[in-house]
Amino acid sequence: MSRRNNVNMMYAKTEQEIEIMKKAALLVSKTLTEVATFLKPGITTLQIDKLCFEFVQDHKAIPSFLNYHGYPYSVCASVNDVVVHGFPNHQPIKDGDIVSIDMGVILNGWHGDHAYTFIMGDVAPEILQLVKITKESLYKGIEKAIVGNRVGDISFAIQEHTEKKMGYGVVRELVGHGLGRSLHEDPQVPNYGKRGNGPKLKENLVLAIEPMINLGSKDVYTEKDGWTVKTKDGKVSVHFEHDVCVKKDKPLILSDYSIIEAAEKKNINLNTSYYS
Ligand code: MF3
Ligand code: CO
Repeated sequence: MSRRNNVNMMYAKTEQEIEIMKKAALLVSKTLTEVATFLKPGITTLQIDKLCFEFVQDHKAIPSFLNYHGYPYSVCASVNDVVVHGFPNHQPIKDGDIVSIDMGVILNGWHGDHAYTFIMGDVAPEILQLVKITKESLYKGIEKAIVGNRVGDISFAIQEHTEKKMGYGVVRELVGHGLGRSLHEDPQVPNYGKRGNGPKLKENLVLAIEPMINLGSKDVYTEKDGWTVKTKDGKVSVHFEHDVCVKKDKPLILSDYSIIEAAEKKNINLNTSYYS
């Protein structure tokens, strides 16, 4: 999320509410699994948008991004140097592109919101590495989503793994967020910060943790359309997002990459060499 327009309250959920939110998050995972199967050079991000819109409607849910503060599509499709909030368009996807698809749904009044970056065929080893490290950093952050920790522990873990170790640019202008009956609730979850700082994590708080990591500098700008965020240096950026429930011993990840990854491995157009 951008650093505006969120509900300024932290809401811990009941166990029943967590169960519904898990279904919402899983519906997004299933939609992204459809995308993983469908992706090949030549298709457009507008075709992906249509596929996702229809899949979500068929599952009795509402695409939550559509019309959110005027956002005009069901998914964000961010290719190469687009960091996040890219508009789906008519441009065919090419071999060598990296494509982040971010999707949100409302199911029975509760939000799911997560994202995955796909690699189309041949890319430079440094880009494969960026994708790998960004995905790893998401899990490093998730590990810290336990009761008694603070938001800064999550932020620090992500920054440590990407910026400090690898010299990548951690985007400052966009952050993760609480999730529930609203798409964006408190707390904000930056991908940079200090251990022990920020709000305390309570049991059954649900967080959308979403590292946005640039190969080059951290600097970004927003295009004239008011949404599309791009890197200033034109280098690629990677985005992964999971919905995570804070628990006492071990965080509970509500979304599911395993089904997306299984579909990704079956699709010969996609490069999965960085993790398989
Ligand atoms: N995951 C993104 C976010 O939390 C998606 C929002 S797109 C929007 O900001 F269109 F809904 F704003
Ligand atoms: Co989000």
